[in-house]
Amino acid sequence: MKVKVDRDTCIGCGVCASICPDVFEMDEEGKAKVLVEETDLECVKEAAESCPTGSIIIEE
Ligand code: F3S
Repeated sequence: MKVKVDRDTCIGCGVCASICPDVFEMDEEGKAKVLVEETDLECVKEAAESCPTGSIIIEE
């Protein structure tokens, strides 16, 4: 799956980076950055479900 973060709606809560640190990292602006464009890691889905603003977009 492909993963993206909508940086306009991300509020920088950091949940994604703590659930799935291999894919998400907090950048210098305090928003989530995607480290890999394509991944099969299940934690991506968990992160997407846990993001309070629904900013994680997954394309199967
Ligand atoms: Fe942002 Fe959601 Fe992650 S608000 S920091 S994309 S959990």
